[in-house]
Amino acid sequence: MGTVKLEPIAPCHLVALPYPGRGHINPMMNLCKLLASKKHDLLITFVVTEEWHGFIGADPKPDNIRFAMVPNVIPSELGRAKDFPGFVEAVCTKLQEPFELLLDRLEPEVSFIVADPFVVWAVRVGNKRNIAVASLWPMSASVFSTLHHFELLKENGHFPADVSVRGDEVIDYIPGISTTRLADLPTVFYDDVQQVLNRALEAVSSTYKAQYLISTSFYELEPHAFDTLRAKLSSPVYPIGPSIPHFEISKGAHDNDLNYLHWLDSQPKSSVMYVSLGSFLSVSNAQMDEIIAGVKNSGVRFLWVARGDASKLKDGVGDMGLVVPWCDQLGVLCHSSIGGFWSHCGWNSTQEAVYAGLPVLTFPIFFDQIPNGKQIVEDWKIGYRVKKKKVGGGDIVTREEIAELLQRFMDVESNEGKEVRKRAKQLQETCQGAIAKGGSSDSNLDAFIKNISRGYS
Ligand code: UDX
Repeated sequence: MGTVKLEPIAPCHLVALPYPGRGHINPMMNLCKLLASKKHDLLITFVVTEEWHGFIGADPKPDNIRFAMVPNVIPSELGRAKDFPGFVEAVCTKLQEPFELLLDRLEPEVSFIVADPFVVWAVRVGNKRNIAVASLWPMSASVFSTLHHFELLKENGHFPADVSVRGDEVIDYIPGISTTRLADLPTVFYDDVQQVLNRALEAVSSTYKAQYLISTSFYELEPHAFDTLRAKLSSPVYPIGPSIPHFEISKGAHDNDLNYLHWLDSQPKSSVMYVSLGSFLSVSNAQMDEIIAGVKNSGVRFLWVARGDASKLKDGVGDMGLVVPWCDQLGVLCHSSIGGFWSHCGWNSTQEAVYAGLPVLTFPIFFDQIPNGKQIVEDWKIGYRVKKKKVGGGDIVTREEIAELLQRFMDVESNEGKEVRKRAKQLQETCQGAIAKGGSSDSNLDAFIKNISRGYS
């Protein structure tokens, strides 16, 4: 007897709802592109605010992905930089109504939602409407586990805690993560913005009611964290990372800057340091002055991505490199002239460095970037710290320290330089194994697609 084939009852219509920020929209679009390439009969509606549609609407995408817009009811990117807690609150309170109105209008009927958990109401909306939801976690599995085990920090007297006094205290009781210092936990645990911590905890707990949890990390990168999550969560957990192919979010806006690629072509192999210190939270003016002078004095070649007014940077940094407003980051990281990545350690950048097999100079600023930097240096041993958050303040790193560190970081001939690059290449191979056909991430993606396809052609 042959197997019974289910006839299609309607095209499977998936709605993707990213959090409105670059580090969240990129992985959501990467996932959608992967889904669209593996399942051609899937229709995907990618929901963004009008502002973000302006940034990304013209970018190439497969035919079965379309954009839908909700009005700009939340602060702009600029507003987000000025008042991050206010921005988080607006996403949590003002976007739901226009999103639900959109859901009512969309055709064909929506059969599935993939949502960023930092859009904290998304799972609730899906459950209310009987639409299955997958939460796409946009940070590391270790950060998920840390937030999930928040109560342990309280029980052990580490929350609340003054990090400027107790930052070196050891935390070795969070399941799935390696021993860490208090100062290497996500900043939400100690930066006195209780509101953002509450929303982050809400984001994690919203995933418990989702039907699936998708992670942008890959299993081999954080096996203990994933084993822990799988043991504790009732819904299936699918690590499908790293989050690539890269989505060139601002293509069009900076087309004229492709000169950087020609410049890179003319540089010696592994000689250029790529610098990107974050997309919306910047460092203090005093620290930036030290960084600029340190880069200049080091004599190291660089390609530096800096948004906003970069005139001070361009004037001060010397002539060993280029300063550009935007670039195709993954393309740059994979260029043979690049020998190291000075990064703010956003989770996407972290994974892109792993994918490209590069050592990282860590300069985390905020939230999950701090533990990401710790994992890079201490767990995977593919990087150097620019600074270790000092107990008792005094956080400025001097130009002399920076110049010396950059020379050390970009020295590919030293034993230390060879060792760190060897480990970065090994991790790159593991990463490529995960996304290759039949690898862990590829298989997880197939399993997820099988689940959401039930009942559809
Ligand atoms: C934010 C948080 O910082 C991060 O820690 C969190 O996990 C996600 O949200 P963001 O600061 O934007 O992310 O950094 P990151 O996660 O690294 O994402 C930035 C993305 O923009 C990367 O995919 C990077 O490749 C891309 N980018 C950046 C470019 O393509 N070109 C550029 O010039 C700069």
